[in-house]
Amino acid sequence: MIIRSETPDDEDAIHSIILAAFAPASYAAGSEAQIIRELRKHGDLTISLVAQVDKEIAGHIAFSPVKIGGRHHDWFGLGPVAVRPNLQGCGIGSELVGRGLALLKAQSARGCVLLGKPAFYKRFGFQSNGTIAFDGLPTRLVQHLVFADEAPVGELTYARAFDLVKSPSRPKP
Ligand SMILES: CC(C)(COP(=O)(O)OP(=O)(O)OC[C@H]1O[C@@H](n2cnc3c(N)ncnc32)[C@H](O)[C@@H]1OP(=O)(O)O)[C@@H](O)C(=O)NCCC(=O)NCCS
Repeated sequence: MIIRSETPDDEDAIHSIILAAFAPASYAAGSEAQIIRELRKHGDLTISLVAQVDKEIAGHIAFSPVKIGGRHHDWFGLGPVAVRPNLQGCGIGSELVGRGLALLKAQSARGCVLLGKPAFYKRFGFQSNGTIAFDGLPTRLVQHLVFADEAPVGELTYARAFDLVKSPSRPKP
């Protein structure tokens, strides 16, 4: 498996993988794939990595800038992350998250936040303690990872692509 940054040739494959991965998910908004297109269009796709297996795109992860408490703090949101359904459970998602976080850190990000299940994300060091909030979601689903300094406090706001699509997605597993 190769993990690499997306190229323009990957855009359609990324779109279809996200559609396929989220199709069976009860929590999916149905807008996850379109969010990636909108992030890209608005220059907010800070990191977009694909996992390539046998020359085919098998997974994708995105990171985009977020505000916390109404301000940018060099923090970024993880998500959506998606793995082709028939290849889930083989470690591709974990590899994408790990490589994405390492890249984010290397780009001097101060931290990363996500909405998701602790069962998957705690292995990467994510924690939730209520300092960052999102739209009344239970505290345990709003998780963060500090790279430098202290975690900012306040309400989380995603890049505008998450609002542009018809039913905004909350990137949770
Ligand atoms: C979530 C997802 C990206 C994980 O990718 P993956 O390649 O299947 O993950 P891995 O093989 O690295 O699995 C790692 C672990 O995460 C667990 N896991 C996977 N999906 C999970 C979920 N939705 N909730 C809780 N745990 C999950 C696996 O059981 C595995 O646990 P283990 O190591 O203790 O056995 C993939 O399942 C997916 O595309 N799901 C649909 C889309 C989605 O929900 N994306 C996340 C929201 S943005």
